[in-house]
Amino acid sequence: MKRVAILISGGGSNMVALAQSMRGDHPARVILVASNDPGAAGLARAATLGLPSVAVDHRPFGRDREGFEAAILAPILAARPDIICLAGFMRVLTPAFVARFQGRMLNIHPSLLPKYPGLHTHRRALEAGDAEAGCTVHEVTQILDDGPIFGQARVAIRPDDTPATLAARVLHEEHRLYPAVLRRFASGDRTPLMLT
Ligand code: GRF
Repeated sequence: MKRVAILISGGGSNMVALAQSMRGDHPARVILVASNDPGAAGLARAATLGLPSVAVDHRPFGRDREGFEAAILAPILAARPDIICLAGFMRVLTPAFVARFQGRMLNIHPSLLPKYPGLHTHRRALEAGDAEAGCTVHEVTQILDDGPIFGQARVAIRPDDTPATLAARVLHEEHRLYPAVLRRFASGDRTPLMLT
């Protein structure tokens, strides 16, 4: 049984989708939910699901990125995760942190990578006049929003879409894609999953 730690910063809807998928014959289980924000709404949702959670506020560390990571790494390592899932986690991780989990850390990004790494992905897709948008699950590497792609889901852009309406439809697809990719990943299957 693979042990999964999920890192969140906000609402945690992807964490909930992942947690709810890991049951029955699924080869993985959530063993920790960790947040860089003690006020993250996802922490209350983790508690409702009966999941162990921890919060380490990144703000007191200021620009000391290494200091924050050392603090949040302690409870993560204590949970002995086999896989780390970043799910709405909004802190950029240092190469040292990434190296520690190289090959077993996933992230979901709300664009069809390699298009639109970084922030404001939906606004950028709309401004570019793209016909479609979507989300990507990829391996976390030293380069932000880069790394091998393990899955993508595509969403048609509608003429009346705003960043908010598009984000809502993409988020729905994220909740389908991430659990499906994690199940494959946890069973050792690296075949990319392309959902239409
Ligand atoms: C989602 O759009 C996800 O793609 C991005 O963070 C947003 C919020 O996710 N990484 P969640 O509801 O906190 O899972």
